[in-house]
Amino acid sequence: MYPTPSRLPEPARSRIAEALNATLADGLDLHASVKVAHWNLKGPQFPALHALFEEIATGLAGHNDSIAERAVTLGARAHGTVRHVAKASRVADYPQETTRDLEHVKLLADRIDGYLEGVRGARAVAERDGDTDTVDLLTGVATEFEKHGWFLRASLG
Ligand SMILES: [Fe+2]
Repeated sequence: MYPTPSRLPEPARSRIAEALNATLADGLDLHASVKVAHWNLKGPQFPALHALFEEIATGLAGHNDSIAERAVTLGARAHGTVRHVAKASRVADYPQETTRDLEHVKLLADRIDGYLEGVRGARAVAERDGDTDTVDLLTGVATEFEKHGWFLRASLG
């Protein structure tokens, strides 16, 4: 662990950083899946969904960056190569042959649910160790992605 401005003890920082790295791997995997959907989508819902998927991907890229930087701020390293992510991600693999608009919506909604499970798990680790700043960061992510999940499920309704 690196020297850090955090006042948390090293074992706590290490546990939280590990949880953040797990969430980072999920987020990088989900980001790639959302872009695959953004590119390959076809059907009558194309204009709205192409734009919505890009908005989701852009927001997620920002969160991935913040989560990685929080891990390093706590004194750890951030792991994010594609090969690392392929091994570490807990989000279900994305079927790249999919083209139909609402099929992508369903696939992404399910993967956002999986991503949110990981975000909440990481937040619980930070909560147990009294790291309110990481809790705050992850609550922001969860709030935004619960909203995306709602948008996608509403499109299927
Ligand atoms: Fe694009």
